[in-house]
Amino acid sequence: MAERSGTSTVSPSVRSTVVVTGAASGMGRSVAERFVAEGWRAVAVDVDTAGLDGLAEDLGTDLVASAVDIRDRAAVATALAAARPAPDDGRPLRAVVNAAGIYPTTTLADYTEDTYRRILDINLLGTLNVTAAAVPLIRAAGDGGAADWVFQLGSRPGSYLTGETVVISGGLLLR
Ligand SMILES: NC(=O)c1ccc[n+]([C@@H]2O[C@H](COP(=O)([O-])OP(=O)(O)OC[C@H]3O[C@@H](n4cnc5c(N)ncnc54)[C@H](O)[C@@H]3O)[C@@H](O)[C@H]2O)c1
Repeated sequence: MAERSGTSTVSPSVRSTVVVTGAASGMGRSVAERFVAEGWRAVAVDVDTAGLDGLAEDLGTDLVASAVDIRDRAAVATALAAARPAPDDGRPLRAVVNAAGIYPTTTLADYTEDTYRRILDINLLGTLNVTAAAVPLIRAAGDGGAADWVFQLGSRPGSYLTGETVVISGGLLLR
């Protein structure tokens, strides 16, 4: 973000539109609320339509709810293109925050391939689908440096070990 002072993190000069996935709950919801509080418009992407309705009720017209499953690449592209601000809107699409994801807990003894294919489909491919759809729209809005405006809050692809767990792209395997 352009400026950090006190509780404010967004410079008034860059107030724009942000796409936030997973915005119906948790971290995504907090991020969407914060952007709107700072004067941005937020395009809230989630599969949880009831959660999106509640968010829209709370945030008003600066919240554009987009009910879409991020695993569906074509649907994501269509939804983001539809939510893109008009060229003369004054708040162009400038950022995307990937916060949608799942975090199921299983054990090394009882995990299933289906669980992990779902994790990869949502946390990895879903994030890719959203980023791939959003970046050209951000670039087209004229800001150039899209890499500065793509944020990953959900679980990152990959794996690592902690004392008692193996974490693989958001899946938590208890040893
Ligand atoms: N909360 C944390 O401390 C924390 C820390 C590290 C990583 N994470 C990861 O970040 C992600 C979000 O965490 P959270 O605590 O905000 O979770 P959350 O469950 O509160 O929110 C996730 C949101 O993603 C949405 N979602 C799930 N699948 C989707 C799909 N296919 N398409 C569109 N939306 C979908 C859900 O409906 C939900 O609203 C998770 O993957 C989690 O593992 C969370």
